[in-house]
This record gives sequence, structure tokens and C-alpha cells, in this order.
Amino acid sequence: MQDPFGRTIDYLRISVTEACNFRCVYCAPNGYAAPKISPLTVEEIERVTRAAVALGVTKIRLTGGEPLLRRDIIEIVRAVATVEGVRDLALTTNGFLLARLARDLADAGLNRVNISLDTLRRERFAQITGIDAFDEVWAGIRAAEQAKLEPVKINVVALRGINDDEFADFARLTLAHPWHVRFIELMPVGANDAARDFFQRYFISAGELIARLPELAQSDAPRAIRRDYRH
Ligand SMILES: C[S@@+](CC[C@H](N)C(=O)[O-])C[C@H]1O[C@@H](n2cnc3c(N)ncnc32)[C@H](O)[C@@H]1O
Repeated sequence: MQDPFGRTIDYLRISVTEACNFRCVYCAPNGYAAPKISPLTVEEIERVTRAAVALGVTKIRLTGGEPLLRRDIIEIVRAVATVEGVRDLALTTNGFLLARLARDLADAGLNRVNISLDTLRRERFAQITGIDAFDEVWAGIRAAEQAKLEPVKINVVALRGINDDEFADFARLTLAHPWHVRFIELMPVGANDAARDFFQRYFISAGELIARLPELAQSDAPRAIRRDYRH
């Protein structure tokens, strides 16, 4: 399967729920809207996966909302992992429920996880996400590593004036742990004036971000950061 630019499409993201237990400032700037549609069933997710694999998809990512809120997430993972032709099954999570689920997810066939973490400071974490859960997420990251859901990737949305003094701390984490830290540019969400103001106030470009990592700017790291931008 190719897009009109001749790029091969072998990657599919499946949103398994709209529901979320976090209220991140950038994701829900207009407030959290309760889910309006019922989520795909396990059988429907498996059917979509089979159809996609038949078209050449080999990599699947489960996302949301917060996918670990699904009570049947282990069944979902098992169903997708057992579809012949799925070579890489990943999941993006806020990490809150990961400590208790990591082992079962791995046993069900999940290969790896991306965990969203925008700050290493507890108070800031609560301000960004609306929930005081830094410790739970950190425990989730450690559990993912122990369950070999590797490489463990940490997604950091760069936010001017909120976490832009922590970029080097995040980068340094990769020296102490086998984790990948990936900085993500803020995307505009919503079309009203408040959403536009929010974006203008907090957006930091990848170029500025790299320039603000003095230790890394001297090395090969910026090239690696530019190459690996999918989340
Ligand atoms: C929408 S969340 C869904 C999966 C899961 N709940 C999580 O927190 O990872 C997926 C990723 O999108 C990021 N994200 C959400 N809104 C964004 C925005 N406006 N700009 C950039 N990234 C955003 C989150 O930080 C997270 O890393």
C-alpha cells in the first residue's frame, strides 16, 4: 500500500478508546469531553487488523484516549498479536496503570510501549496532567523495562515556559537508562481563539529545542532526534 507520494504504508494506529484518566493541558485545552461513540470491540479490532495486514501493514500501535483504561486490553493485545503478519505491536500510554499491567501485556504479545511524560517534577506533573500521579507513571516506566517491553520510549511534549528547562534532564536520562526520549512538537488542537492562543504561547519548534540542548548540540544526537520523530 502506498500513499500519493509513493511512500509505503506499513503502520497502523488503532484508537481503542476515547476515554482518558488524565486532563493534559494541551490535549484537552477546552475541557475534557466524555466519549461520544462506543469503542471498537475486541472482534472489530481484530478484523481491522486482519484487513490492514492484508494490505501490507506489519506494525500496529494501540492508542487512545488511554488504552489501559479498557478492561479487556489484555484480550485486545492477544487478539492483535496473534494475527499472522503483525511483526511489531506497540502501545502508547500515559503509564498510570502500567505497573500493574506490564507483565500481562508482555505475556499477551505486546512488544513495546511509549510512555508520555512531560516533566520529571511531581508538582509540574499535576499541573500538566490534572492528576498527582508522577510516582505511578515512574513505576510504570520501571515495570515496562522489567517486563522487557523494549525499547521503552518516553514521549515529551515540548512546552514553552512549562517544561523547557527540563530538556537536558530528559536527555540525560538516556545516559543512565536504556530508554529512548523523544521530544514532540506541540500540535494545534481546536480551531477557536483560545486554542490558537494556547498554541502560540506554548509551541517550541524542534529546531529551537535542539539548540537548547547544549551538550547534545555538539554531538550526533540532533541528527538522531530529527530522524526519529514518529510517536
Ligand atoms: C493522545 S495520547 C494517547 C495515548 C495515551 N493516553 C498517552 O498519554 O500516551 C498520545 C500522545 O499524544 C501526545 N499529545 C496529545 N496532544 C498533543 C498535542 N496537542 N501536541 C502534541 N502532542 C500531543 C501525548 O502527549 C501523547 O504522547
